[in-house]
Amino acid sequence: MSNFRKYFPIFKQNPKIVYLDSGASAQKPDCVLESMTKFYETTYANIHRGLYEFSEKSTELYDEVRGKVAKFIGAKDPSEIIFTKGTTDAINLLASSYSKLLKKNDEIIVSEIEHHSNLLPWKNLEDVVCAKVKYLPVLDDCELDYDWLEKNISPNVKLVCVSGQSNVLGVKNDIQRIIKIAHSVGAKVLVDGAQLTVHSKLDVSLLDVDFYAFSGHKIYGPTGVGILYGKKELLDVMPPYQLGGDMVESVSLDKVIFKQAPSKFEAGTPPITEVVGLGSAIDFLENIGMEKIEDYSLKLTQYLQSELLKISGVRILSSKKSNAIVSFVVDGVSSFDIGVMLGQKGVCVRVGKHCAEPLHNRFGVDSSIRASVGIYNDENDIDKFIDALKNVLSLLR
Ligand SMILES: Cc1ncc(COP(=O)(O)O)c(C=O)c1O
Repeated sequence: MSNFRKYFPIFKQNPKIVYLDSGASAQKPDCVLESMTKFYETTYANIHRGLYEFSEKSTELYDEVRGKVAKFIGAKDPSEIIFTKGTTDAINLLASSYSKLLKKNDEIIVSEIEHHSNLLPWKNLEDVVCAKVKYLPVLDDCELDYDWLEKNISPNVKLVCVSGQSNVLGVKNDIQRIIKIAHSVGAKVLVDGAQLTVHSKLDVSLLDVDFYAFSGHKIYGPTGVGILYGKKELLDVMPPYQLGGDMVESVSLDKVIFKQAPSKFEAGTPPITEVVGLGSAIDFLENIGMEKIEDYSLKLTQYLQSELLKISGVRILSSKKSNAIVSFVVDGVSSFDIGVMLGQKGVCVRVGKHCAEPLHNRFGVDSSIRASVGIYNDENDIDKFIDALKNVLSLLR
C-alpha cells in the first residue's frame, strides 16, 4: 500500500474506492483539514481590518502563507504572490489586466493543447482589443512544435501562454525553451501550472517565468484558493482586475489611489481559511519532498501505461514521458459507457474532453478516458482499475 494513503481520511471512510481522478482534484490529507478546522475554531476573523488579536493573528497567518508560497515556487519576494480563487481565476485576472496594456494586432501565442482556462481568456482578447491569437501546434509524439515557435515568434508577440504539463497528455512542456524563445523578442510567458505544481519541483526565478498560475485543490489543498505569480516589475504596471475593499490607499469621489501589488489584485474578503489550508498542503508536499513525489508518480504512471497496453484495442494518447496522467480510448467502445461502468465499480476516472476540446480534435478523438494518480495511489489501485476495465470491456464488446 502507498505509505501516504494513511494521511487521507477519505480512504479510511471508503477503503474500497479506487481514486484515479487527482488530475481533476486531489484528495485532502488530515493536516490540511485539521489546520482549517483549528483556524476556524481558535483564531478566525477577517484580515487587514480588525485592531483586535484574532484579526491580527489571522492577518499574520495569511501573510505567512504568502511567504511560504513564494519559497515553494522560488519567487524572489512574497509581494509577487497574488491569492486568487484558482488557476482559472488567476488567468482571467491576468488576461483582464493585460487587455488594458495590449493594442490592436498585438499577438498572443497559446498552445493547441491548453485547458480551456488558458485558451478562452486569451481568445476573448480578440474581441476585447482586436489582439491576434496564434496556436502553437502539438506534434504526434505529444511534444509542442518548438520549431514552429521559433519561426513564428516576432516583436508583435506580447505573450506566450502554455501549460507546464498537459492535463490530457501528462507530458511536461519544455518551459525553459519556450521562455528563451519568447524572451528573445521581449514577449512575456505565462505558465499554467495547474497540473505541474503537484508533481515537480520548480523555481520560477531560475526559469525566469514571467507569470505562473496554479490551484490549491490540485496540490492536496482546499478548493477556492489559487495563485498567480508575477514578476514584481510586471505586476507594478498592471491595472487591477476587480475593484472593492482592501485594495486602495485612498478614495475620494474625485480620485482613487490603489495599493501596490499584491493588494491591488486582492479586492474584497479573500479565501482566508483556504489560504491557511494551502499553507498546510505546501508543508505536506515539502515534508515528503518534491523529488520523491515526482519519482513515485513517474514509476506508477509507467506501470499504469504498461498494464493498459496489454489490453487489446486500447490506444494511449499520452506519451512514454507522461507523468501522473494517462488518457486513452478503446477502439469501438464509448468512453462514456466505460466511465459510467467503472464508476459503478467504485473506480473514479474522468471521461470526456477534459476541458481541452481542441486537443481532442487534433488527435482525432471525440472524448477520452483519463486516469490520473496521486501519492495515495499504488500498484494495487492500478491492478484493481485494470481488472475493472477488462471486466467492463468484456460486457461492452
Ligand atoms: C492544465 C489546467 N489548467 C487550468 C485548469 C483550471 O483549474 P481550476 O479549475 O482549478 O481553476 C485545470 C483544471 O483541471 C488544468 O488541468
